[in-house]
Amino acid sequence: MTETVKRRTAISDSIRYVGFDDVEREIFESQYPTEGISYNSYVILDEKTAIMDTVDERGGDAFIGNVKETLKDKKPDYLIIHHMEPDHAWGVGKLCELYPDIKILGSAMVGQMLSQFFDDTVKSKFEAVKEGDTLSLGSHTLQFIMAPMVHWPEVMVSYEQSEKVLFSADAFGTFGALEHDEEWIADSSHYYFNIVGKYGMQVQALLKKAADLDIKVIAPLHGPVHKEDIGQVIETYDRWSRYEPERRGIFIPYASIHGNTKKAVLQFAKELEAKGETVVTMDLTEEDVSEAVEQAFLYDRVIFAASTYDTEIFPPMNDLLHHLKIKLYQKRKVGIIENGSWAPGAAKKMREYLEAMKDITIAEPVITIRSVRKPSDDEKFEALAEAMKG
Ligand code: FEO
Repeated sequence: MTETVKRRTAISDSIRYVGFDDVEREIFESQYPTEGISYNSYVILDEKTAIMDTVDERGGDAFIGNVKETLKDKKPDYLIIHHMEPDHAWGVGKLCELYPDIKILGSAMVGQMLSQFFDDTVKSKFEAVKEGDTLSLGSHTLQFIMAPMVHWPEVMVSYEQSEKVLFSADAFGTFGALEHDEEWIADSSHYYFNIVGKYGMQVQALLKKAADLDIKVIAPLHGPVHKEDIGQVIETYDRWSRYEPERRGIFIPYASIHGNTKKAVLQFAKELEAKGETVVTMDLTEEDVSEAVEQAFLYDRVIFAASTYDTEIFPPMNDLLHHLKIKLYQKRKVGIIENGSWAPGAAKKMREYLEAMKDITIAEPVITIRSVRKPSDDEKFEALAEAMKG
């Protein structure tokens, strides 16, 4: 383990990091571009020992090596499962083989999922815990808090009362390897809006429970441990999970086939900037859709600009709108620009997507460009700029 990884995961002498920093992973969950990712796991050393989650199969050998090195001659008494997704639960079967006496604790639904992922031997070691249950390890006591749908339905978090550590499952996680010393906020919004973004209501429910706890450390399943500015970290999650924008400005994702929609967008962006707006444009044919999802959530206003394709939306924009729909995108003012040379149809379909979302205000006019933007279109763009004012 490098010094950077040690620094970013250190909690205390009795709570030790045994996870895996996957610096080579470029695509996470077979879809999200990332510069590595960590699968975090901890061992609590006390009269009884507990392993907090496991790791992805890619880190299996390193994880088992870390566990053995940390436990030395001891055997683990408990494996606490906060989340059964395979990037954290691959090692469950392996630990049961190595330590047949280990007891597995998790929410009731973890028991059901253990049967789906593993054979009956693993399930036989399982005992369900429920909201508010505690487990004494000696001087450390774990308090279990259910957090259903803070990504998956079986999720719980646990709070270690003596050192005031919240083991937060996927909440407060980030993309990016621990080795890459990024600011937390930079990669966490990409992670949050794409992984957890749909579950704002459930994150709010967890934050309400966390408000009763004195938290000094947050240990998520991905990314660095939070030891400073805990209040700011929680405040950020609170804002995001209420779907409040992070930034004032206009985000303009565009999907252009031959470049004319792109030219119209870039010209409009300049005009908006000249009016004092902060504008960020993104070419959806070049950037990953997850980056556009993140920006759409971060900004308070978005203008969707797309060419028409086979009388519908050019697919890169359709993909973005589909993603926003399933992430429960809401509470924003939006504009629509379409282009079409012979049968413009993108705007109608974009409007259908957006009208079905909660608290979305569509700024009028919706603009139709016929092939290229011309001086005769200026008045419409001027009117849209006015309507998009924050
Ligand atoms: Fe990193 Fe929802 O698992």
